[in-house]
Amino acid sequence: MKNSSIADKPIGIFDSGIGGLTVLKEIHRLLPAESTIYLGDTARVPYGIRSSETVRKYSLQNSMFLMERGIKLLIIACNTSSATSLESIRNVLDIPVLGVIEPGAKAAAATTRNNRVGVIGTEATIKSGAYRKAIQNVNRSIEVIEKSCPLFVPLVEEGWLNDDITELTARRYLQEVKDAGIDTLVLGCTHYPLLKDVIKKVMGEQTVLIDSAIEKAKVVKQILTDLRILKKDTNGTFRKYYVTDSTDRFLTVARRFLLEPIEDITTIEIASLEMAT
Ligand code: DGL
Repeated sequence: MKNSSIADKPIGIFDSGIGGLTVLKEIHRLLPAESTIYLGDTARVPYGIRSSETVRKYSLQNSMFLMERGIKLLIIACNTSSATSLESIRNVLDIPVLGVIEPGAKAAAATTRNNRVGVIGTEATIKSGAYRKAIQNVNRSIEVIEKSCPLFVPLVEEGWLNDDITELTARRYLQEVKDAGIDTLVLGCTHYPLLKDVIKKVMGEQTVLIDSAIEKAKVVKQILTDLRILKKDTNGTFRKYYVTDSTDRFLTVARRFLLEPIEDITTIEIASLEMAT
């Protein structure tokens, strides 16, 4: 197939639910001409508390569903899926597959001055040690302090972004990483960029926060440019959304994440994901 016709194909992006919209937002901002298909597995969220085997199974099903829709590149927006399933997905797909861990890890390694980096994420992401490995792959002498913050996801979905309860929760979770004297903190979960204000307040201005959504969008642009499959203009550009549960809650919470209207959204049965593998 000619590069020009591949260029017109959509980018596929999936997440365990709604949080991946933080990544999608950055993709739309940086690459407005690209068509995108977003799959949010809202019926099976959260992934962050599940075993890596289960997350791998779900992630593979999501990937195959998007592949069947003719995508040119796959973005795994979910940190938990990226941490546990990137290699297995890469092994079965013949298109570029991008996880979120590496871009965030590289940015953190390039940012730290005192070689002490904090990483926060879901239990499954932290348990996988994926960020620590990826950061130390860049620079072995960096000490990585990891902390799971499971309550952050429901707090964000509840919309309590600048609430006293959120600040108290953040103080409790982050004391340990703060005491470790880190100068860089990776927000290793799709939802955490929405808590930037509270996290900054707790950590102090001097700690640099790494938002992996922004880092990932930059990498996507680079890959499409290198492969010469960047879509040239907005002719025929579309933005399509699939969810596995009712669209109501998704649309309500999505407003906080995406800040743009969602017009084309469809609910699909989990069975159709299971059939995709
Ligand atoms: N999307 C997940 C992540 O980035 C957070 C929500 C979940 O646990 O599924 O790790």
